[in-house]
Amino acid sequence: MSREFDALLSGTRIIPVITLHSAASAQPLAQALSDGGIRCAEVTLRTPASEDALRAMAEHPDLVVGAGTVLDAAQAERAVEAGARFVVSPGLDTGIADRCRSLGVPYLPGTATAGELMHALKLGRTAVKLFPAEQLGGLDLLNALAAPFTQARFIPTGGISPERMPHYLAHPAVLAVGGSWITPAALLDSGDYDGIRRLAAQAVERSRP
Ligand code: 3PG
Repeated sequence: MSREFDALLSGTRIIPVITLHSAASAQPLAQALSDGGIRCAEVTLRTPASEDALRAMAEHPDLVVGAGTVLDAAQAERAVEAGARFVVSPGLDTGIADRCRSLGVPYLPGTATAGELMHALKLGRTAVKLFPAEQLGGLDLLNALAAPFTQARFIPTGGISPERMPHYLAHPAVLAVGGSWITPAALLDSGDYDGIRRLAAQAVERSRP
């Protein structure tokens, strides 16, 4: 349900999508994001360090941290044990949907087509990740899907730049926008958390109407 995500987002409309190769980065990164005004983040489970990084980031008192790139139900369960408050997958998976329902954790399935969106709605998932948004047609795709599915709420992610973000956020069916541009590998690798704080603050500023 989109209300679950509204509550988790608590006013913020940007979800940084984060890939960490070392859990040691997690705490300073969480602090930098929080200092920049970010309230919600997705940690992708793409590296051996991901689960530990998720656990460490989830400890931050001012961030709602979810797990991304979750590919099956067992992974969803481990992510929730590690502190994930929501679960995101690049596509829709009924096993993850069932497990998240029984765990009482919101599930944000990736959808790219009208058929996937119909499936998500049937499962009661009115909030979806539109992925990969820019590559599939960007705002034109969003407009085309939002028109027939008036109950759907979208979190477009994939290829979205800070310049494009405000255009998505202006759409009434968009809850928030996700993207990796706030936590680029170059800044993470060099430990430039001040640079990340600045990117976060700029994104938060641009996200305001
Ligand atoms: C994701 O999993 O959401 C994407 O990798 C984020 O897309 P981006 O890197 O193009 O912002």
